[in-house]
Amino acid sequence: MPSQTNTLTITRPDDWHLHLRDGEALAAVVGFSARQFGRAVVMPNLKPPVTTVESARRYRDCIRGALPAGSSFEPLMTLYLTDDTEPAEIDRARASGFVCGVKYYPAGATTLSDAGVTSLARCHAALARMEELDVVLQVHGEATGTTVDPFDREAVFIERDLAPLVRRFPRLRIILEHVSTAVGIDFVRAQGPRVAATLTPQHLLLNRGAMFKGGLQPHLYCLPLLKRERDREALVAAATGMDPRFFLGTDSAPHARAAKESAGGCAGVFSAHAAIEIYAHVFEVAGALDRLEAFASHNGADYYGLPRNNGKITLRREAWTVPASYPFGAGELVPLFAGELLSWRLVPADGRT
Ligand code: NCD
Ligand code: ZN
Repeated sequence: MPSQTNTLTITRPDDWHLHLRDGEALAAVVGFSARQFGRAVVMPNLKPPVTTVESARRYRDCIRGALPAGSSFEPLMTLYLTDDTEPAEIDRARASGFVCGVKYYPAGATTLSDAGVTSLARCHAALARMEELDVVLQVHGEATGTTVDPFDREAVFIERDLAPLVRRFPRLRIILEHVSTAVGIDFVRAQGPRVAATLTPQHLLLNRGAMFKGGLQPHLYCLPLLKRERDREALVAAATGMDPRFFLGTDSAPHARAAKESAGGCAGVFSAHAAIEIYAHVFEVAGALDRLEAFASHNGADYYGLPRNNGKITLRREAWTVPASYPFGAGELVPLFAGELLSWRLVPADGRT
C-alpha cells in the first residue's frame, strides 16, 4: 500500500476571486488571505462600486494599509462595469499596471449589483476596447428576472448572454466566475483558451442539500446557489483535470452573522480562514492531491499572463477544529465549516502567518 502523504508543499497559490470589503471588515479579514495567497483579485462591489482606475487605486492603498506588517500580499484590482463605462477608462486600466480586469455584474444578480449592467448592448464600446487591449472580462454569470428559476440562472445566462458575447467579441478573454453547474463546465470546455472559469471551495464540496440539512443553513447561502450533486461532480472533474482553463477563486464573501441570520439574509460564504486547506481536502478525496498545485498556483497566473509566485507554502495533515466565529468589526463572522474538523492545516512559514 502506498504510504499516505502527510505534508504537501506547493508554489504559493493565488485567489482569483475575493471580496475584502472596506473599513473594519477589511481589517478583520485581509490577514486570512495574506497568510496563504500571494495575490488576489479583489472584487469591486463596494458601496459605492469601484468603477474607475482612480477609485481602484485608493481601494488598493486601503488594502495594503490593512495588511499585517511585512506581508507581501498583492491585491490585483478589477473595475465594476456599468452601462456608462467609457472606453477611455479601459485605456487607463490597461496603463495602470494594477487593474487586471473588469467585472460584469448583471444588475440585480447579487450583493451590491444594483449599479451593474442593465443591458450588454450598452457596454459594447467598452467591451470592444477591452478586446483590443486584452483586458480580461470577469463575469458573474447569472440571468436575472422573476421568470428565471434561481437554480437555472447560470444555464440561462450562458445561453442568452454569454454565448452571444463570446461570438460577438471573438478575441475578448472571459472568465466565468464561480462556475456552479455542469452546463457551465461544458460551455467552458467547448471554447478555446480565452474562456476560463474560477471554482469556489463551497461549490466543489457541497451540493444544494447542504443548505437545508438539519434546518435552513444561512451560512451556506451564496450566489450562485449551490447546485445538484451531478453539478458538483462536474466541477470536481474540471478542477482536478489539469485543464489550464480552470483555477482557484474562493469568492470568500464576508457578511456579519446578524446580516446572515435574519429575514432577507445576505448571500455570501466566508472561506478565507481555511481556503487552501478546504481545496486540499477536495483534491485528496478526489485522489488528485498532486494536481492541486496546477489549479491553485499555476493556471490562474498563466491565464492572466502574470508570473507564478516564487515562494512556497506547506500543508500538513493535522486535524483541527474551525472556530465557531471570528471577530468582524463590532460583530462576528461565521466561517465555512464553523465548529467542524478539517484534515489539512497550513504550516506557518517565513513570518507570514
Ligand atoms: C458576493 C458578496 O457578498 O459580495 N456574494 C456571494 O454570494 N457570492 C457577491 C458575489 O460574488 O456574487
Ligand atoms: Zn464574488
